[in-house]
Amino acid sequence: MTFEPIATERLILRPLEPRDRARLIALANNWKVSKNLSKMPYPYTPAAADWWLGQQEALWAGGTSIALAVTIEDDLIGGIGVGVRDDRADEEWELGYWLGEPYWNRGYATEAATALRDYAFERAGLASIVAGHYADNHASGRILSKLGFRYTCEVARHSLARGADVKCLEMALPRERWLEVTAAAKREDLVA
Ligand SMILES: CC(C)(COP(=O)(O)OP(=O)(O)OC[C@H]1O[C@@H](n2cnc3c(N)ncnc32)[C@H](O)[C@@H]1OP(=O)(O)O)[C@@H](O)C(=O)NCCC(=O)NCCS
Repeated sequence: MTFEPIATERLILRPLEPRDRARLIALANNWKVSKNLSKMPYPYTPAAADWWLGQQEALWAGGTSIALAVTIEDDLIGGIGVGVRDDRADEEWELGYWLGEPYWNRGYATEAATALRDYAFERAGLASIVAGHYADNHASGRILSKLGFRYTCEVARHSLARGADVKCLEMALPRERWLEVTAAAKREDLVA
């Protein structure tokens, strides 16, 4: 697939490659990561990594998903993606992300998610992006709020790692709100 990597101030978001395998296994095989995601298994085995890496070509070919490695100096530090959710309309894609624990609390997830949010609205022409976080995952709620997402409803969503349905707070960012949020951010940049 041809995809021009997305560069942020400190990160490059690029398609996953077979060379990411070892870091993917090392960073994703962490309960604190997988318990907050709906579809990441725990333990995260080499077979799980091979399955995910093997999905990439088909995912990109389908045209309904952008799945990227979050990298620093070409080393994978996490994953981020936006794509059609099975139970949602085509024009409403879902954003998801995770980072390896050594990279938490440095603003990287906010930086990556802001860049992919803007890419998805600008290039993929989406009407709305949705996202959800488990009720006990306050850091993710903070990130999504900073990106302009607003709470829409509460659902029970299955977590593969927890093996249970977990209270999940769903959020949405319609295109009109994204335009407002990005315009306000530009005004702040001009003042600063
Ligand atoms: C959630 C996750 C992506 C955050 O990554 P990160 O790079 O540390 O996030 P950032 O540093 O960009 O931003 C985190 C924000 O949450 C805040 N935060 C962190 N822990 C918090 C907590 N317990 N309660 C409230 N806010 C919290 C931080 O202060 C920061 O906000 P600020 O910029 O206003 O200070 C990372 O912890 C992770 O990968 N977790 C496991 C997978 C996951 O939860 N994915 C999201 C699924 S919805």
